[in-house]
Amino acid sequence: MSRVVGTHTCRPAAHREAIIVVRPVVRPAEPIKVVVTGAAGQIAYSLLYQIASGAVFGPDQPVYLHLLDIAPMMGVLEGVVMELADCALPLLTGVLPTANPEEAFKDVAAAFLVGAMPRKEGMERKDLLAANVRIFKEQGQALDKVARKDVKILVVGNPANTNALICSKYAPSIPKENFTAMTRLDQNRAQSQLAAKLGVPVKDVKNVIIWGNHSSTQFPDASNAAVKIGGVEKPVTAAVNDDEYLKSTFVTTVQKRGAAVIAARKMSSALSAAKAASDHMRDWFLGTTDRWASMGVISDGSYGTPRDVVFSFPVTISGGKWKIVEGLTITDFARQMLDATGKELLEEKQDALDVCKD
Ligand SMILES: NC(=O)c1ccc[n+]([C@@H]2O[C@H](COP(=O)([O-])OP(=O)(O)OC[C@H]3O[C@@H](n4cnc5c(N)ncnc54)[C@H](O)[C@@H]3O)[C@@H](O)[C@H]2O)c1
Repeated sequence: MSRVVGTHTCRPAAHREAIIVVRPVVRPAEPIKVVVTGAAGQIAYSLLYQIASGAVFGPDQPVYLHLLDIAPMMGVLEGVVMELADCALPLLTGVLPTANPEEAFKDVAAAFLVGAMPRKEGMERKDLLAANVRIFKEQGQALDKVARKDVKILVVGNPANTNALICSKYAPSIPKENFTAMTRLDQNRAQSQLAAKLGVPVKDVKNVIIWGNHSSTQFPDASNAAVKIGGVEKPVTAAVNDDEYLKSTFVTTVQKRGAAVIAARKMSSALSAAKAASDHMRDWFLGTTDRWASMGVISDGSYGTPRDVVFSFPVTISGGKWKIVEGLTITDFARQMLDATGKELLEEKQDALDVCKD
């Protein structure tokens, strides 16, 4: 589409003819509605700015933020709303704070499901799972009722993979492919560890994979990763040249990084979790470029993993659709690691389904 924006008459009057200058009309994009749950919490505190500033959906995409939290947090949420207003962000067209899931999920195109019950002292893993599965069952039902059918859902709240599975189960009108769980923080941690080990900028390491569950059974895998050194790309395995490090220290450092942050900060990772959530959703909306992303997605049994659990795989993304990277070699060591994390996901799934029966 174009419109005439002006005419020039710079020739002598006798030969005067209008030169029409035509410029394309760039219509501002329609705002999309984006929901963040747990909006009064610490991850959301960093995430909301990233979404509203254009870092996730692009610098030309206005957003209307829906903020969901529980009723006792509405006062705190009011303060967050004030701060968003005070940021004077040009892309932020409106904010809706609410404690009602159906209001929060109405017509959303993207959902960051961050809100979950934190682990309290003396709480068993199973108790935490039970509490959170109920939240994600209810939110699945609400999404099914009122969200756009093409909504892209990222579950951050733990246990993220199993919460995503349950959410999807209770939202049957939304494709299963639209429910994902976050393992991007683990990927970013792994990439950063390797960059530090090799003394290169973090951007020069790519294709580190996180397989499986976002838990201590996850498998951070550098066997297909590449690093650019002196302008030349080479396998990370060759550059590190220390198989024992890649199978032990590297794996456990990434697996235990969350606990290390809690030990130091006395609070769980929030800034880095928010950055990872932004990376995940940005790649999903705008596409991956020359590198893979790891995301928890519904398993089709690829690489001998259990079907119908939300398992983290390396994916490429184009046109808003993810695709599992095919044809990678799985070593005996990798096989053991994939089987262990797959087994845990099957157990979590069973526990979650038992809770949902109540
Ligand atoms: N996948 C990952 O890599 C990753 C990384 C870090 C943290 N996490 C998880 O993210 C979650 C949030 O972390 P945080 O540090 O922001 O926690 P937080 O306790 O600071 O905030 C959580 C917020 O969720 C809200 N909430 C609780 N139940 C809710 C419900 N039913 N609906 C809406 N909101 C609800 C709480 O009121 C609170 O404001 C936790 O489950 C944490 O374990 C995941």
